[in-house]
Amino acid sequence: MHPTRWAIVALICVYQQLQMAAAKNDFELYFENFTCNSDSSSKEENPLESVHCGLSKNPKRRTLHMEFLLRELMHEHDFHIVIILPRRTMNFVLINVTTDGCQLLSNKNQIPLLRIARQVLDRYSNFPTQCPFERAKPYYLRGFRLDLSLIPAVMMETPVTVQFSYSRQRVQLFQGHITAHVQRTVNAKQKKSG
Ligand SMILES: *[C@@H]1O[C@H](CO)[C@@H](O)[C@H](O)[C@H]1NC(C)=O
Ligand SMILES: *[C@@H]1O[C@H](CO)[C@@H](O)[C@H](O)[C@H]1NC(C)=O
Repeated sequence: MHPTRWAIVALICVYQQLQMAAAKNDFELYFENFTCNSDSSSKEENPLESVHCGLSKNPKRRTLHMEFLLRELMHEHDFHIVIILPRRTMNFVLINVTTDGCQLLSNKNQIPLLRIARQVLDRYSNFPTQCPFERAKPYYLRGFRLDLSLIPAVMMETPVTVQFSYSRQRVQLFQGHITAHVQRTVNAKQKKSG
């Protein structure tokens, strides 16, 4: 091929990349609700002392916070997560996995989305980088938000629900429930109408 054609092809590629980058930043995840609850019927086997979950007060850019305390040292545990994009016709299940919680903490998990989530979590939490979770130490997640450009799968406006839980030997410690939606950023909206 003629060198100038190469240059043109290269330019088009760069242009497409730039457009994609712009498109990704046009969307943001907006949290609506975050609640946690624990099943009090299994209190004897449940190592959980307390758990609190919620959203920051700033309605413009809500962030998640969560805090929990264990009354026992916890070595092995499972982590379960389901992320659903509700659709009018059929819900789209983005992820539905139960996985070894220790592998997840040390980021040896093989699922790309969970690896990303673990890396992001590092910035916002004091979770250990390996098991165990200690006894009587307040573990927290604070000011958590998610930069959608890390998750290429979500590039449209859609509601999102997330359910997750921690369990040990089939006893569920607690369950968290997040409702959110992906929306265009204000800038993207202005660009579109302008
Ligand atoms: C948040 O979820 C809780 C429990 O599911 C519910 O009682 C509450 O009304 C919800 N709040 C909002 C603002 O949706
Ligand atoms: C997630 O997977 C479990 C086990 O395979 C299944 O029972 C459950 O219905 C699934 N949930 C969703 C929302 O697809």
